Amino acid sequence: MLMRHSLIRESKQIMKNYRTKIISNQEISPGYFRMKVLAPGFGENAHPGQFVMFRVQRSLPPLLRRPFGIFRTGFLPADCDGLPPVEFVEIVYKVVGSGTSIMAELHQGDRVELLGPLGNGFDCTSRQGEKILVGGGIGLVPLYMLAGELIENGCSVRLLMGGRSRDDIFAVTEFERLGVETYISTDDGTLGEEGLVTQVLERKLQKYPAAEVYSCGPMAMLNAVHNICLEHNTPLQVSLEESMACGVGACLGCVVKGAGHTEEKPSYLCSCKVGPVFKSQYLDWSALAQNNSDCGGCA
Ligand SMILES: Cc1cc2nc3c(=O)[nH]c(=O)nc-3n(C[C@H](O)[C@H](O)[C@H](O)COP(=O)(O)OP(=O)(O)OC[C@H]3O[C@@H](n4cnc5c(N)ncnc54)[C@H](O)[C@@H]3O)c2cc1C
Ligand code: FES
Repeated sequence: MLMRHSLIRESKQIMKNYRTKIISNQEISPGYFRMKVLAPGFGENAHPGQFVMFRVQRSLPPLLRRPFGIFRTGFLPADCDGLPPVEFVEIVYKVVGSGTSIMAELHQGDRVELLGPLGNGFDCTSRQGEKILVGGGIGLVPLYMLAGELIENGCSVRLLMGGRSRDDIFAVTEFERLGVETYISTDDGTLGEEGLVTQVLERKLQKYPAAEVYSCGPMAMLNAVHNICLEHNTPLQVSLEESMACGVGACLGCVVKGAGHTEEKPSYLCSCKVGPVFKSQYLDWSALAQNNSDCGGCA
């Protein structure tokens, strides 16, 4: 049985298909790109943790759109000819296969198609208090808008950034400009502390036991974050990056098992509609870990 959206939480979703153009597409670190796309009216409906389905308009393969988290939305300043400011949405992506390789070759003015904003993002209604954000590699993307909103709400935000090496860490200064305290760790010690980001989380939760945690990254990292938060009785929201085909609840290609799932009483959650952000207690973590055991993740 597919669990009903309203059983978890309800949010208004206003999506639109944009046939639009690239404003810029730049490599920011080896294999990582930032792409700004013209998207009038996008920002007013976008919520931290939501995503877009992206398609390169001029090429047939890949046929399917690809999902990407929303890094930020904003306006380019007004033109000196008196033209109004231009609204954009920005994504950050890592080149991993055919679709992202084609994206990396795109330039300013190239035509693309973008459907969004999609899905249910983070619940960031709580005011004030300590918030710890844990991001692994490309999992840092949805945490930028989230950090901005939490800071606006009067919260104190700490971001634990993890990666395999320094190449996986980006936008540090931008997070800091929001007022976020950042902590960096890399597996190989090429930037920040050497070791896993989850070791830093353990320490921070000892120091801030009343904190709430928000996380996005490879499944192995999310699973470890879930176990640590369970041990500390800490509320956790996670953003899953399950593979998606349609992104709008039509193909059921993105379902994950919900907590308490059994053969007799099945519980399935549609990751693109109910998620991609879930309160961790709603998920079947042993099934998630098993499904993703071969996956290198996106860090
Ligand atoms: C909600 C959501 C948000 C996402 N946000 C971002 C983002 O902000 N930036 C970003 O770079 N990526 C993000 N991803 C992952 C991104 O969608 C995939 O990396 C992309 O679709 C790969 O397309 P491709 O054609 O280049 O690779 P493919 O040729 O389709 O796959 C190449 C390799 O990447 C692996 N792969 C494909 N999709 C995923 C995935 N979801 N997770 C882990 N491995 C995958 C495949 O198993 C394969 O090994 C997100 C995914 C989801 C579901
Ligand atoms: S990706 Fe098609 S239902 Fe979620």
